[in-house]
Amino acid sequence: MCLTQSQNLTFRQLSSLNSVMQLMSRFYPFVLLFAVLVSACNQPDDNDPYLTTPYVLQIPQGLPPMDAFIPLNNPMTVEGVALGRKLFYDPILSGDNTQACAHCHKQEFGFGDPRQFSEGIDGSIGTRQAMSIINLGWNQFGFFWDGREATLEDQALKPVTNPVEMNTTWPEVEAKLNADATYKLLFKQAYNVDYIDSLTVAKAIAQFERILISGNSKFDKWYNQQSIQLSESELRGFILYNGEGADCFHCHGLGGLITDNRFHNNGMDTDFSADEGRYLVTGNDADKGKFRTPTLRNIEFTAPYMHDGRFQTIEQVVDHYSQHILPSATIDPLMELVGNGGAQLTQQDKDDLIAFLKTFTDEGFLTNPEFSNPNP
Ligand code: HEC
Ligand code: HEC
Repeated sequence: MCLTQSQNLTFRQLSSLNSVMQLMSRFYPFVLLFAVLVSACNQPDDNDPYLTTPYVLQIPQGLPPMDAFIPLNNPMTVEGVALGRKLFYDPILSGDNTQACAHCHKQEFGFGDPRQFSEGIDGSIGTRQAMSIINLGWNQFGFFWDGREATLEDQALKPVTNPVEMNTTWPEVEAKLNADATYKLLFKQAYNVDYIDSLTVAKAIAQFERILISGNSKFDKWYNQQSIQLSESELRGFILYNGEGADCFHCHGLGGLITDNRFHNNGMDTDFSADEGRYLVTGNDADKGKFRTPTLRNIEFTAPYMHDGRFQTIEQVVDHYSQHILPSATIDPLMELVGNGGAQLTQQDKDDLIAFLKTFTDEGFLTNPEFSNPNP
């Protein structure tokens, strides 16, 4: 219990702790007593077997540390990650026990969905393509295509009650989990709670999502680790991607997340009535038709593409950026810069660009046994 509490200290609690320490420095014997008490808390104790083990994230070269992005009230623990993984793959979170998160977020597709629109438990169809779940621990600009949820913890609460997804209520899910002896024990071990509530479920799932890190693709081995060479075609594709030729790097970036995680209109429509994107969150006209830039990591396996899954292949995506960019009031100025209707790439350019995009494939991520279904 002591350890869990000390890990959960907020900034405010920490600063008040600081002033307590100052006060205590005047009363040396008490300081000694305090120190003895604190160290006692850190010893495993038969009466308090629920000590958690810190989870040490393995961050590949080229990606920043994640510590500053992890909420103070949900520190990474081995127990929390394991619990989140179990929940992510467990259909117990859906109304009729048929659909887990992994039903629409499949590891072999970069935790995305090969269907254009995902189907809810009763066969109802959504209007957006399921997003990949890759390196989201670093995203600070909101989740979903329109960025409407601020944290992974907030996001994880939503699919459960979404009518076109898991279509149930949190009281129902809480009742099912609290009636399950295994979950009772696992939640006790990870969060030291006796009642399993929605917020703790969301915390555990968020912990699992934070370990879904991809940073060991061919691109990384070349650009960040400098351990291999790219082919000539891939290199030409890189120059197009990273320069005026195709100008992809402005929004998708280079080196780290392969996205700026910000909201842009990349010129796909002139009429946004089907989905107004970021505008639905901000109500600002300037945000009509803007969507969050997705990462291009593992893009070879996350088809179909765009918020409505309109493109089945990378070739179609590249054709869009090359020839079919549509002007509108909110189009990103960068899209217009590349030229009339697009970058006007030759067939050779397109082949090279696609060869380069495929260097973002990270086999180790798509097959990592630690990300797979742990349930029997
Ligand atoms: C029926 C299919 C379906 C199920 C089940 C589902 N999702 Fe999703 N998920 C989607 C779709 C579709 C989107 C995009 C929705 C949007 O932007 O409005 C999405 C978006 C997300 C995102 C946002 C990614 C980003 O980059 O912002 C995360 C994270 C996520 N889902 C996690 C989960 C978790 C955790 C569960 C289980 C509790 C879950 N999903 C269950 C279809 C599904
Ligand atoms: C102005 C910013 C911007 C530029 C420049 C840009 N993109 Fe995008 N890209 C986006 C946004 C925003 C989306 C999502 C749009 C949507 O879903 O409506 C996107 C989506 C994509 C997707 C689909 C990803 C998925 O998971 O569905 C691919 C692939 C892609 N871009 C590749 C490229 C390539 C290749 C280039 C250069 C030719 C490029 N982008 C240039 C902003 C940009």
